[in-house]
Amino acid sequence: MLKLAIIGTGNISHQFIEACQLSKAYQLTAVYSRKLETARAFAKTYEPLEVFDNLEQFWKADFDVVYIASPNAIHFEQAKQAITAQKHVIVEKPAFSNPRELRTIIDLAVENHVFFFEAARNYHEKAFKTIEAFLADQTILGADFSYAKYSSKMKDLLGGKNPNVFSAKFSGGSLSDLGIYPVYAAIRLFGQPKDANYTATQLKNTVDLNGNGNLIYPDFHVSIRTGKNYDVLDHAEIYTSQGTLHLNHIQGISSAVFQKHDGSKEKLTINAPQHLMLDEVLAFASAIENKDLTAYHTYLNAALAVNQVLYQMRQSAGIIFEADQK
Ligand SMILES: NC(=O)c1ccc[n+]([C@@H]2O[C@H](COP(=O)([O-])OP(=O)(O)OC[C@H]3O[C@@H](n4cnc5c(N)ncnc54)[C@H](OP(=O)(O)O)[C@@H]3O)[C@@H](O)[C@H]2O)c1
Repeated sequence: MLKLAIIGTGNISHQFIEACQLSKAYQLTAVYSRKLETARAFAKTYEPLEVFDNLEQFWKADFDVVYIASPNAIHFEQAKQAITAQKHVIVEKPAFSNPRELRTIIDLAVENHVFFFEAARNYHEKAFKTIEAFLADQTILGADFSYAKYSSKMKDLLGGKNPNVFSAKFSGGSLSDLGIYPVYAAIRLFGQPKDANYTATQLKNTVDLNGNGNLIYPDFHVSIRTGKNYDVLDHAEIYTSQGTLHLNHIQGISSAVFQKHDGSKEKLTINAPQHLMLDEVLAFASAIENKDLTAYHTYLNAALAVNQVLYQMRQSAGIIFEADQK
């Protein structure tokens, strides 16, 4: 079992722990918060647990792997410290703000003989294997992938506040927060595009509220729609020479139906994940425990491709993060 520690006491950390518990591959041992009372409140559900409000002390604690779920722009510094302390790191998506940060972390992880993973949960969903096998002998003509969800932080934004998820200081915005899922799905199924662009509705700080992008492959295009100020109801279609594959979502996929040109339908057998984060936590544990460098490099290459594409898309829309200027 891997000894696990947590940074970030938001709701997603509870969900991650739930998945770890289901996996039976991790034993939760420590939590860090900026405030001891927050760490104690978080720990109550999981006692006994060591609690910290001092990062220097936290890195000396007895654990193998840390899950980092702080605001996006904080990930880089915390991951650097973790790796230097010889801990494996699982960093919530988007792991880092730009290719420079990601490359630094990958190199540092190699130097320190630890693993770094980006927690992009849909990339690890088993549904993609089924979809990939189904599409293997078909010619892809294009795809339309969307993830837009009205954010609970819209109220604050409309009230004149600047929540982390809409902040340039914290590397926020719709593309980084939700658009990353359709981009991961495209790269999982079709590989790295040769080019990418994005047009967005932007706040004064340049961060995007919503937008449309295009991933350009040699023989087809994948359109990407993302938004945090509206809901998309129809999430994913893949167009082939023989028909259209409709997915109920681009993450947490539980249904895939292929409609041929003659209108007849074929339902693929998809086993929806028991928990949205279970497949990824199992994948990370297996790579660490088995020192599975083949799987590890596949995940890293996907993370590099996604990070590069998101950066390119951001650049084309003129979305500038404070992290880009460091
Ligand atoms: N995979 C998924 O489904 C999923 C879902 C939601 C979010 N996420 C990702 O998870 C990460 C956290 O998202 P979130 O919405 O939970 O973010 P958040 O609420 O802004 O912050 C998460 C935690 O980070 C700490 N924190 C907040 N502001 C900080 C600051 N200025 N400096 C240092 N620490 C700070 C807080 O913990 P303490 O007060 O205890 O220090 C807070 O509970 C993001 O990368 C996001 O993209 C992933």
